[in-house]
Amino acid sequence: MLVCYMKICDNYLFVHCFFLFQWLKIVFLVVIALVSLSTTAKVTYNVTSFGAKGDGNTDSTKAFLSAWASACNSTKTAVIYVPAGTYLLATAVTFAGERCQSSSITIRIYGTLVAPFNYDAIGNSGDWIRFHRVNHLTISGGTLDARGGSLWSCKTSGNSCPSGATTLGIYNSKNIVISGLKSVNSQMFHILLDACINAKLQGVTISASGASPNTDGIHLISSMGVTILNSKIATGDDCISIGPGNSNLWIETVACGPGHGISIGSLGWDLDEPGVENITVTMATFRGTQNGVRIKTWARASNGFVTSATFQHVTMVNVSNPIIIEQRYCPDKNNCPNQVSGVKIRDVVYEDIHGTSATQVAVKLDCSQGNPCTGLRLKDVNLNYVRGGKPAVSSCAYAAGTASGILHPTSCL
Ligand SMILES: *[C@@H]1O[C@H](CO)[C@@H](O)[C@H](O)[C@H]1NC(C)=O
Ligand SMILES: *[C@@H]1O[C@H](CO)[C@@H](O)[C@H](O)[C@H]1NC(C)=O
Ligand SMILES: *[C@@H]1O[C@H](CO)[C@@H](O)[C@H](O)[C@H]1NC(C)=O
Ligand SMILES: *[C@@H]1O[C@H](CO)[C@@H](O)[C@H](O)[C@H]1NC(C)=O
Repeated sequence: MLVCYMKICDNYLFVHCFFLFQWLKIVFLVVIALVSLSTTAKVTYNVTSFGAKGDGNTDSTKAFLSAWASACNSTKTAVIYVPAGTYLLATAVTFAGERCQSSSITIRIYGTLVAPFNYDAIGNSGDWIRFHRVNHLTISGGTLDARGGSLWSCKTSGNSCPSGATTLGIYNSKNIVISGLKSVNSQMFHILLDACINAKLQGVTISASGASPNTDGIHLISSMGVTILNSKIATGDDCISIGPGNSNLWIETVACGPGHGISIGSLGWDLDEPGVENITVTMATFRGTQNGVRIKTWARASNGFVTSATFQHVTMVNVSNPIIIEQRYCPDKNNCPNQVSGVKIRDVVYEDIHGTSATQVAVKLDCSQGNPCTGLRLKDVNLNYVRGGKPAVSSCAYAAGTASGILHPTSCL
């Protein structure tokens, strides 16, 4: 800077100072770049280098576990690379994260992971592919095919068969991203998040026969801050099921059908049960599903609750129960001693719900005699009954709230 004040020649000095400044700036930027490079440096583990074979026949379970152990043990950002091909994971497999050193692990899948055709191989193990206590996990691309068809046949034939495995179960984990993943033909639930915090599922495709038993698309338990975006789910059971203890859930642009729709519940089986809070479903489409947006509770004593749920900008196409609250759920009238649900439902908004109903009762708000629903709000609900030439109707029991805007059928609140 001293040079600048020597006033020998203004022009020359200006140029001189300018270059000095530029030079310092470049040095500074290079240092920053080197520092950030060393902290974001990533290391790739190719499953084929650990012995995985994409031939569809070789059991690659051990290779995947070894690749995970190395990625987990890395002190850098780790990527597990699964090239194109069909990889058999012949047994249930758990990827444990509690001792991982890596700041994050990404599993980039270009291939398909398959389970054995014999359903017994994984049918009693809870989950086929399980992640436990992982922080910063991304699963991107790929297909999971649990080949559940033979187990569905066993179940529907009434024979005794294993309960079936969830295809992808993630437990006690944080900061999860699942992106562009496809899951087909799960034995049971396709994707389960249990006790997870901050998860984003986007561009997920789930597909199973409309007649397959218990093949829920995405099942959530006790999780917080889950976002599900731009996904397409066809199953034989719930598209997305929201169990006890979930909060701050955001579901946007999800297409469901066939299947049983998006369901909060079943809740209230246990007396002591965590509640469900702050759930948003926006821009969903239901096509030929049994339900659209449902809240379902057992007719049993419970201190569970549902507080603040919003269903908005939803399109129904030939849906049997487009809007439904059912608090008298008790199949076979078993285990529900006084037939009253203890679950308190309040502040549920249905806004801009339009399309067609496959049954005459398009809006059914059947709340608990012991704990009536409060703060229900219907705004711009326009549902037509597709058959029979009769107008759609709504039905309310123990339901309190307000209605405004377009209301077809006429509100019973
Ligand atoms: C992984 O391994 C396969 C087979 O050896 C190879 O074709 C592929 O290029 C590798 N990919 C990466 C990213 O290392
Ligand atoms: C994990 O890394 C440590 C050194 O950082 C090494 O001693 C150990 O063998 C590695 N374990 C595995 C399973 O790779
Ligand atoms: C509700 O959940 C959303 C995410 O789905 C979150 O952004 C918002 O802050 C939550 N609201 C409250 C009151 O916790
Ligand atoms: C509507 O759904 C009902 C029963 O779910 C089905 O029988 C009927 O064929 C469907 N109609 C159309 C037009 O898809």
